[in-house]
Amino acid sequence: MILFDTLFLYLTLLINPVFNLDNGLALTPPMGFMTWQRFRCIVDCKSYPDECISENLIKRQAELMVQDGYLDAGYEYIIIDDCWSSKERDENGRLQADPERFPNGIPALADYVHNLGLKFGIYGDYGTLTCGGYPGSINYLEVDAETWAEWGVDYVKLDGCYSELEDMEAGYAEFANYLNKTGRPMVYSCSWPAYFEFGGYPVNFEILATTCNLWRNWADIQDSWSSLTTITKWFGDNQDRFSKFSAPGHWNDPDMLLIGNYGLTEDQSKSQMAIWSVMAAPLLMSLDLNTVKPEFKSILLNKDAIAINQDSLGIMGKRIYQKNDIEIWSKPILPIINGYYTYAVAFVSYRDDGHAYRVEEKLETLGLTSPNGYLVENIFEPNNVDLIDFENIWARINPSGTVFLRLTPIGSVLSN
Ligand SMILES: *[C@@H]1O[C@H](CO)[C@@H](O)[C@H](O)[C@H]1NC(C)=O
Repeated sequence: MILFDTLFLYLTLLINPVFNLDNGLALTPPMGFMTWQRFRCIVDCKSYPDECISENLIKRQAELMVQDGYLDAGYEYIIIDDCWSSKERDENGRLQADPERFPNGIPALADYVHNLGLKFGIYGDYGTLTCGGYPGSINYLEVDAETWAEWGVDYVKLDGCYSELEDMEAGYAEFANYLNKTGRPMVYSCSWPAYFEFGGYPVNFEILATTCNLWRNWADIQDSWSSLTTITKWFGDNQDRFSKFSAPGHWNDPDMLLIGNYGLTEDQSKSQMAIWSVMAAPLLMSLDLNTVKPEFKSILLNKDAIAINQDSLGIMGKRIYQKNDIEIWSKPILPIINGYYTYAVAFVSYRDDGHAYRVEEKLETLGLTSPNGYLVENIFEPNNVDLIDFENIWARINPSGTVFLRLTPIGSVLSN
C-alpha cells in the first residue's frame, strides 16, 4: 500500500508536476514573530534562561505580541524556528519536543498561543537533519505533517539542510500534499529556492508558486546593515525572474526583519521596513519584545507601512532607479483612481557620507503619470510632505535611511 501510494505520487508528479496548494492562506504577506534571528539555537537554559528556545520564551513573547499591540497591527503568527525538538524521535518515529525546555509539550504550547488569539508555527527540515542538527523529516514526511496537524500547528517552515538538491522540488511538493491530506490548513514556507540558487540549480517559480505559500529565495539574513544591503541588492538585481510570482497566497521571502536588534540604526530599520513593505515581503520580526526600544517598536507598528505591505493586490514592488548610491523602490497599490494606481515609493540611501542627500527626479521618470498630480503622505515623517510639484518629486535622505511615501492620484471624481 505504501509502495502503491509512493508510485502513484511519482506518477502524478511526472504527469502533472504542479500541485495546487490552494489552502486559502496567506492572502497577504504573512506577519508574525520568528525566533531565529534573535534567539538562534540557544538551548542552554541554565546560562540563558530568558533567551533559550523554550516554552517560557514562546509564552512570554506571545503575551507581549498581544499586550503591546503587535497582534492588533497584524503580526499573528508566532513561529519557533530550529532547535525545539529532542535529538531523538520517539518510539513511534514521531518528532518530540525537548522535554526539559518544553516540559508541557508542543500541543499545550499551541493551545496557550491560540488562547491568546495568535497562530502557532513550527520548523522542520526536508533533509536528514535540521540545520542545527536535530532530526530531519526526509523519511518521515507524512508522519511529520500529521504530527504537526495534530499538535495544532498553523504554519510550517521547511528548511533544506542535509538534503539532496535533485530531490527537493518533488519532495517539497510531496510534503505539500501531506499537509493538504491532514485537512488542517497550514501556511507552508519552503526553503528549496535558496539552496537551488546557491547550488546553481534553476528555480522553477511556476512550481514554487503552486506548492508553497512563501519561499526563501536566497541567503539567510544576519544582524547587520551589510547583510541587509547584500540581500536588497540581490533582490533588485534578480527581481525580474520572480517578482511576477508574488500574489495572494504565495510570496517571495527575503528573510526576517532585523528591526529592534543590535545591528541596525533607526534609519536603517526604516529602510528595511520600507523595502520589505514595497516588496510585499513577509513581515517576520525576530527580536526580544521585552526589551525593544520605543523607536524600533514604532517602526514595526507603523500602520501605513503595514498597510502598504498588506495591500490586497499583492504586487511585489521593484527597484526602478539606481544612481549615486540611491535606489528608488516602487509598488503599485490600491486605490486605483481614474485608471491610475496609487504608489508606495521608497527613496533608499546606501550612502554613508554623513549628510542628508537630496534627490530630485521627474515624476514621469518614476512612472507617476496621473494628470492631476498626487496627494503625498510621508510614512515616517507625516508632517514633511513638501516633496512634489506637478513635474518633479524630491527627497532628502539620511545616510542609510529611507524616505517612504504614498502617492495617491488626485481624482476629480466625486460620484459614489
Ligand atoms: C486541499 O486541497 C484542496 C484542492 O486543492 C483544497 O480545496 C483544500 O482546501 C485543501 N485543504 C487544505 C487543508 O489545505
